[in-house]
Amino acid sequence: MLTGPDIHYYGEPVALVVAETFEQARAAAELVEVEYAGGRGRFAFAEHEGEAYVPKTVNAGLPTDTSVGDFDAGFADAAVKVDQHYTTPYGLSLPIEPNACLVAPRDEDLIVYVSSQIVDAAQASIANTLRIDPARVHVFTPFVGGGFGSKLGIHSETILAALAARELDQPVKVALTRQQVFQLVGMRPTSNQRVRLGAERDGRLAAIAHDVTMHTNPDVEYAEQTAATSRSLYAAPHRLTSHRLTPLDLPRGTDVRAPGEEPGLLAVESAMDELADTLGMDPVELRIRNEPTLDPERGVPYSDRHLVECLREGASQFGWEHRPATPASRREGRWLVGYGMAVAIRVHLQGPAAARVRLEADGTAVVQTDMTDIGTGTYTILTQVAAGGLGLPPDRVRIELGRSDNPTSWGSGGSWGAANSSTAVHRACATLREKLLAEAHDDTRSALRGLDPADAVFSEGDVRIGGASEPLSELVARNHPGGVEAEGETRFMGDEPNYTNYSIHTYGAHFAEVGVDADTAEIRLRRMLGVFSVGRLLNPKTARSQLIGGMIWGAGAALEEEAVVDPRSGAFVNRDFAQYLVPVNADIPDVEAVVLDGYDDKANVLGAKGIGEVGICGAGAAVANAVFNATGVRVRDFPITLEKLL
Ligand code: MOS
Repeated sequence: MLTGPDIHYYGEPVALVVAETFEQARAAAELVEVEYAGGRGRFAFAEHEGEAYVPKTVNAGLPTDTSVGDFDAGFADAAVKVDQHYTTPYGLSLPIEPNACLVAPRDEDLIVYVSSQIVDAAQASIANTLRIDPARVHVFTPFVGGGFGSKLGIHSETILAALAARELDQPVKVALTRQQVFQLVGMRPTSNQRVRLGAERDGRLAAIAHDVTMHTNPDVEYAEQTAATSRSLYAAPHRLTSHRLTPLDLPRGTDVRAPGEEPGLLAVESAMDELADTLGMDPVELRIRNEPTLDPERGVPYSDRHLVECLREGASQFGWEHRPATPASRREGRWLVGYGMAVAIRVHLQGPAAARVRLEADGTAVVQTDMTDIGTGTYTILTQVAAGGLGLPPDRVRIELGRSDNPTSWGSGGSWGAANSSTAVHRACATLREKLLAEAHDDTRSALRGLDPADAVFSEGDVRIGGASEPLSELVARNHPGGVEAEGETRFMGDEPNYTNYSIHTYGAHFAEVGVDADTAEIRLRRMLGVFSVGRLLNPKTARSQLIGGMIWGAGAALEEEAVVDPRSGAFVNRDFAQYLVPVNADIPDVEAVVLDGYDDKANVLGAKGIGEVGICGAGAAVANAVFNATGVRVRDFPITLEKLL
């Protein structure tokens, strides 16, 4: 309706009703009568899967298909084979705060308060759609309320609010209900993944293929990079990956919590477990035997991997040696007990992110960027980085996020937010330090005059060189009574040699124990452990909470989450948390994340990489593999609900 007279999918907005109160608007909306000529839609993925086509582009600019060696020959010759299909359902981001915005006109400008992960993307979308100068659109996102991909971009709610605000010359607020979110902001595509593994009897992989078919909206192509997951994971001389898309008349696909890796690892890591079972080999040992020395598709070294250490440390801390060696062999009362494991891999990305750091003459600092905090702790981390970079106590640093008038960051998404923005802040602080030291060096009024700036230490609000010391505030006040500022930035990874010359990812190893009721097949997760290699941690507390959050989402992907399409209308039939299930406290008794000490000197000057999504990667497969170990039943159609085990 925003783009023409046709309705493309169930739930597409056809009108916006604005009133003084929400109740009035809702009642008025009920009175709008919409008449349209119905057509035949394509809604059932399985029915149309055969019509799949090659996508124009795969998410994150990755190749659609890759081929190394001769897969067909390698697979044909392999002594042991796995050839299975795995299906994953539609999934939604579903942050605590549904998408919402308030747009207020001010003269020629629009003031936009919107829950958005990437501020400049929101600004550009509004400006391009309304055909106005982006400088006239001022976006504010001081807090996001969670995003998980659903707020990487804005949707009809924001555009409609902006149009109405301009039309009425009044502020207009549009807040989606939870049920509307299910139809209006996009979802993870459903997938059918064929995984073929060919190995020698000693477990060494000779051939690996990962072929993925997903659905896409016909008008807005979206190809989740699901098969890319297996490209850097295991050594094998013969390799094949591919993506295909089947157009369905459903809302557009979009990024949801580790796009690519989440569904991809459910399939590949289940298949690896099947291979271990076929070989009669410990699944940890199978992974260790297939650890590559170089990225097997790109032929470049890994920057910093330590996956084998994650596996060994995790196995030891979890007590993996107590795993039932034979499936369905351990029973505790009515419970069949099983252990499972899987690995995590998540690409680390760098993009253009800028931040300004301003030192005031009173010795306080302000960090300004349009970077957002989606609940991951951006305010905390940037405070730490700026305080560390300037030698100031944290309470003298103020962080100003989420304003489009601030320098443009890469926002929060794809696990890149913290590492990129922190690097930009770190660089801005370095520039300020150098500038102030150079001034002091030549300043007869400074106690630091003539001393070597290379020996300077910034600490607790003072600058010391050897025995000489001066308050940072005085260095600033003397030459910059109005304050002094500098900008720092990161560059797009395509322009950084390290990102071309190295394969840069985060890694982990997940371990899970489940109990399955022998009569009802009720599955209870008993405990989960993840051990991760993510470079340097910027903050252990915020990191742990993201990692265990991801692991919990993984448990949900294995056992609960699934949006179901009505094949008659294309509507999602489960549109609230009563019917679209996610884990609650009672589902997650014991989950722990451990991070190896690390520093990835190829990623950035801080040695830090993204951790937002690696927790979910592979976590679901570890749970699924535990269910197999408990029951001897392999479910390849996710989520593993109890009727599939009976
Ligand atoms: Mo993430 S799904 O790129 O917010």
